[in-house]
Amino acid sequence: MRSTAGVKGSQTRDVMINALDSYNIRVVTPTSCDKYPAKHHARNVARKLGASSGLIFLSGQPTINLRDSDQSRPFRQRRYFYYLCGVDEPDCSLTYDIGQDLLILYVPDFDLHRAIWMGPTLSREDAQDRYDVDCVRYHTALRYDLQAWLDERKQGSELYLLHESEKPEGLPKDLPLELEQLAPAMDAARGVKDEYEIRMIRQANKVSGLAHRGILENIQTMHNESQIEGSFLNTCISHGARNQAYQIIAASGPNAAVLHYDRNNESLHKRPLVCLDAGAEWNCYASDVTRTFPLTGDWPSDYVRDIYKLVERMQEECIRKIKKGVRFLSLHDLAHDIAIEGLLALGIFKSGTNLEIRQSGASKVFFPHGLGHHVGLEVHDVSERSIMALHKGFDQQQYGPILNSTCLSPCTLSAPLLEEGMVVTVEPGLYFSPLALANARRQSYARYIDFDIAEKYVHIGGVRIEDDILVTATGYENLTDAPKGEEMLAIIRGSV
Ligand code: GLY
Ligand code: MN
Repeated sequence: MRSTAGVKGSQTRDVMINALDSYNIRVVTPTSCDKYPAKHHARNVARKLGASSGLIFLSGQPTINLRDSDQSRPFRQRRYFYYLCGVDEPDCSLTYDIGQDLLILYVPDFDLHRAIWMGPTLSREDAQDRYDVDCVRYHTALRYDLQAWLDERKQGSELYLLHESEKPEGLPKDLPLELEQLAPAMDAARGVKDEYEIRMIRQANKVSGLAHRGILENIQTMHNESQIEGSFLNTCISHGARNQAYQIIAASGPNAAVLHYDRNNESLHKRPLVCLDAGAEWNCYASDVTRTFPLTGDWPSDYVRDIYKLVERMQEECIRKIKKGVRFLSLHDLAHDIAIEGLLALGIFKSGTNLEIRQSGASKVFFPHGLGHHVGLEVHDVSERSIMALHKGFDQQQYGPILNSTCLSPCTLSAPLLEEGMVVTVEPGLYFSPLALANARRQSYARYIDFDIAEKYVHIGGVRIEDDILVTATGYENLTDAPKGEEMLAIIRGSV
């Protein structure tokens, strides 16, 4: 039996009774908690700003046509804007009056022509119902509201913008602008996820897990990287995730050595592995998932198996250590340590101790990127400080050899620790790039690399394994459930 009763507003209550078990009753009651927690985010940003008054003004992504075309650019909401209202529609803006604790959403004025061609834009009533904002007004009211705020503002109250170019039009020139503090405050707030955001990232991971699994189940029938990309998109879109969090990387064989390969159009014939880095987005929240797998469900050679097992160990040992208070950089360090030990055992490194090889910088030839990054509204999400950031002095000495410039935040040298509610990727990889190897031959650390042996791995391209990890009060939770390791092989073989 299933009954649906309308309740106040647009909410419904579903009561489902399992025919086989009349005690199993599931009551699903969406509450206001199911709205995007915009007010909570706005207050959090105000706290991070340390301000008791002032006005935050943010515009969302406007509709923009492609250059020299009458077709619009695919819409992607601006993440800072979304964080403060949860609205995934173009041409909106918002203000948050910190002193009044008043969040106002501005929606586009009604446009008959646009409504006939594209469907109506948000009405005030719909928006008020759907979003956790105090008030919804049409765009025309914005200028007058801002002028009223300026007229009434107390001395010292500032107008917070992200960029000077976003100054609202039609206002006096001498606005009390504050342009430096809003971005860092929002980055700090966004770095730690609340329960709602974690739910979105979890759901994005669910869909990605299904899409990765679907490819493993069918890879033996596929002939080209393009089919992998097509299958991933098909599963995601069919399950309600229309957008990808980033460009799909379906890299077979040597292509896997190109970290952000995205041509995805080569034959799979005789390719030992596929590195598939692909993650769905759910309500603007990202997942970021990489799996590397053979085409038949068996490791095609010891070379392939050994590298997979080594990366697997790097990932498992790093994930196991995650908990609040841990410094992410120390996990990056651990991953390098395991990589060096493993590559020494395989004969790819030679003539040095683990420490000598590490200090020489040679391990960056094979593991050139950072261990991970925050995940949230952006796949490489913002945070107060980069999780790969360094302390001055001591850190430069200790970590310099195992960090590429791309691992470092350009704006900070502080040393952040993991906090409860952060979501980070753990994505170690080992790559055999002909370009990187050719460059390595010219470096002083070349003496630690046996190039004849390393060349034997070039056909593999690389292995990366990546999961999204939530830092909890007591440790961690892995939000990624895409199959890996033995389960992954069994699915490819069709034996599960
Ligand atoms: N998964 C893509 C990246 O982290 O760069
Ligand atoms: Mn990643």
